[in-house]
Amino acid sequence: MWGGRFAEGPAAVMREINASIPFDKRMWRQDLAGSRAHVAMLGATGIVGVDDAAAIAAGLDVVAAGYEADGVPDDLSLEDIHMLTEARLADAIGSTAGRLHTARSRNDQVATDFRLWVRDAIDQVDAALDGLQDALLTRAEEHADSVMPGFTHLQSAQPVTLGHHLMAYHEMTRRDRSRFADARARLNECPLGSAALAGTGFPIDRHATARALGFDRPTRNSLDSVSDRDFALDYLAAASACSLHLSRLAEEFVLWTSQPFGFVALSDQWSTGSSIMPQKRNPDAAELVRGHAGRIAGCLVALTVTMKGLPLAYSKDMQDDKPPVFEAHDLLALSIAAMTGMVASATFRTARMRQVAEAGFSTATDLADWLVREAGLPFREAHHVTGRAVKAAEDRGEALHDLPLDVLTAIDPRIDARVYDVLSVDASVASRTSFGGTAPANVRAAIARARAAIDTGGTA
Ligand code: ARG
Repeated sequence: MWGGRFAEGPAAVMREINASIPFDKRMWRQDLAGSRAHVAMLGATGIVGVDDAAAIAAGLDVVAAGYEADGVPDDLSLEDIHMLTEARLADAIGSTAGRLHTARSRNDQVATDFRLWVRDAIDQVDAALDGLQDALLTRAEEHADSVMPGFTHLQSAQPVTLGHHLMAYHEMTRRDRSRFADARARLNECPLGSAALAGTGFPIDRHATARALGFDRPTRNSLDSVSDRDFALDYLAAASACSLHLSRLAEEFVLWTSQPFGFVALSDQWSTGSSIMPQKRNPDAAELVRGHAGRIAGCLVALTVTMKGLPLAYSKDMQDDKPPVFEAHDLLALSIAAMTGMVASATFRTARMRQVAEAGFSTATDLADWLVREAGLPFREAHHVTGRAVKAAEDRGEALHDLPLDVLTAIDPRIDARVYDVLSVDASVASRTSFGGTAPANVRAAIARARAAIDTGGTA
């Protein structure tokens, strides 16, 4: 394609290091879409004759049908998907194929293809996250009243509801979707027509190609257009944040399925056995989601460092933009699908959760709050009195709500029998009605708000 001034072909290693076809063939649909839009514009503006433009468009259909039927070969001698497609087009229609590359360079071509690919990737991730949110909402609704221990420092802190806990992940995924939406909005400008770096002297219509490819507008600066990979970094940053959230949910599943917790039983479909220990049911998928977050963050770092310090405009370093994005996308898609499956099918062992919630003196704060509210103690003093009650319960091997009244009044005579109303875990969660608190009524309201936002296409 560029051999005019060369007497010799490239060394084998040169050919190998230079080629991107093994990975960029994944963009063949986007590459053809870009070429179709470009040739339609070349025909409409008269830069290429109408008949030639029509022949090229028909030839691109032939190339597409070939890729569809037989896949795209790793032809290193043709370097990348752009050159392979042009060669295939020449096979199909002869020398007219050579007119397709008028007023275009591989630099604006690859920038356009990659934007289109990342845009599709964002749309796929958004749909997958919608499915995960749906699973979270369904399970949260089922467990709006199910009491579990809430933790800080992984120590039992205060009782919460499982519904509230699951809705915390709904919030994270809501922000994730909004990060992807932001990335999509910024991405949606079309670099095609920036040519190699300086624009072109041909009377092209960049607004027409932008429109045809579903972009909001053309990009504004040709140098920036061919060397900007922010859109890929935005995608990777959003993917990394999202996978980080998934890894936290995955970690909950790892903990909750362990015998000491016993909060969750995974279905057979989502468990793996051990080749040596017959009793094992391992949460491998959750562990891999946890692990994938590390690889996805690595992809973000890889492209960040690749882009650092590159002078304008295009440099071949930028060909290395695609592998980390493809890898991160595949890992993220798998991670979302796996977490959706686990959330949807897990058996939550609510009796065990309640037992643990009741065991850790988790309503101590409720006792302290009662002393403030009903006996007028300053909170610090109430905290101290409650600490002594917890100590007594611990010494007697009893839960707080099982302590006899005379034991409590001996600690502080201002305590009376009404205190038992707040010492149960159910009373504790029911009392947490502050906006965003764990009360079952709040959880139901949060679920209803989330469902209403889905119906109206909003993100509230
Ligand atoms: N395969 C190249 C890439 O992915 C296409 C652009 C090549 N441009 C060039 N000036 N060599 O970046």
